[in-house]
Amino acid sequence: MTGEALLTVDGLVTKFDAADGVVHAINGVSFDIRPGETLGVVGESGSGKSVTMMSLLGLIPSSVGRIAAGTARYRATSGEVDLLKLSERQFGRIRGREIGMVFQDPISSLNPVMTVGRQIAESLQRHLGLGRRESRSRAIEMLARVGIADPSHRVDDYPHEFSGGMRQRVMIAIALAAGPRLMIADEPTTALDVTVQAQIMALVRELQAESELAVIWVSHDLGVVAGLADRVLVMYGGTIVESAGVDDLFENPQHPYTRGLLASIPGTGLAGSRLASIPGTPPSLQHELKLCPFADRCSHAIDRCARERPGLTPISADHSSACFWDIDASRQRDGVAVIAQREGM
Ligand SMILES: Nc1ncnc2c1ncn2[C@@H]1O[C@H](COP(=O)(O)OP(=O)(O)OP(=O)(O)O)[C@@H](O)[C@H]1O
Ligand code: SF4
Ligand SMILES: [Mg+2]
Repeated sequence: MTGEALLTVDGLVTKFDAADGVVHAINGVSFDIRPGETLGVVGESGSGKSVTMMSLLGLIPSSVGRIAAGTARYRATSGEVDLLKLSERQFGRIRGREIGMVFQDPISSLNPVMTVGRQIAESLQRHLGLGRRESRSRAIEMLARVGIADPSHRVDDYPHEFSGGMRQRVMIAIALAAGPRLMIADEPTTALDVTVQAQIMALVRELQAESELAVIWVSHDLGVVAGLADRVLVMYGGTIVESAGVDDLFENPQHPYTRGLLASIPGTGLAGSRLASIPGTPPSLQHELKLCPFADRCSHAIDRCARERPGLTPISADHSSACFWDIDASRQRDGVAVIAQREGM
């Protein structure tokens, strides 16, 4: 991992125009990622993980939604661009070339009537201008690279001839064929069994070790993220509620939502309130977010939470949380209470 950020997202706001009004899906998301880094993005369903990634990739159709604010400075090989301001034509040089994408469902992302070899070769021809023969041999190389056995024969197979795990490997081969510097993977292993998931994760780590590939790995599964990420963003209600190095997040979670999320994984030592047992439902996104999105479900809410929206505030060099609750003061209070109890006061 090296110094300067590859991508810096600042104040992303994305809205949808639904039949019954505006959906405030993303409410000011800011983060960055450095070359070689793996950033895990977690949060429950509807928290805005996919919409954030789709916004960055120019995949929000103007017929349904819009990016209302923000910048996403990406340091492309040919110079810096703002991903939130690119035209569809300009994105043609970014998606697949600078930024590779892997989604949950390879069946809908792969073309069912084109051999996997042609699909990899197409990316190589379009982005790198390689000829037919050269791109075919590179496609075979890529298939071998992602662990497909007998690649010189499999290159002529169609997507349905591969198993789920192998199709996801093919997706990774396509995503990485043109040598992007960032890979955005949205729940890429969710549909796969645990063993295949582990193989894919090991494969991505291996590929990263060979280059400075940065990876954004979206998952609702904190266990997967723990095994893969250097740093984690926790999303809730279209905001980032906590951002920290992976060890720090697991050892010293700050935000009440993160603590609930971690308590729902067995063996984390954070016994108690399982996420499922936190009363209430995710916030309505029908209105602009003016207060803490977690306020309705939070057992630590104080008066201020009903008046203001907390911003993401640094706790230490690489750890931020968006919460007014003073966790240290609570610990001290609890400590005093325990001592008082012990001493029979
Ligand atoms: N086309 C759309 N029109 C209206 N609202 C939308 C549209 N697409 C997404 N949303 C809303 O945006 C919010 C964020 O959705 P998003 O898909 O990013 O969630 P997610 O965190 O990826 O969830 P999951 O874990 O289920 O994939 C949700 O409330 C969703 O209903
Ligand atoms: S800001 Fe308030 S309501 Fe929101 S998570 Fe923190 S304590 Fe709870
Ligand atoms: Mg999603």
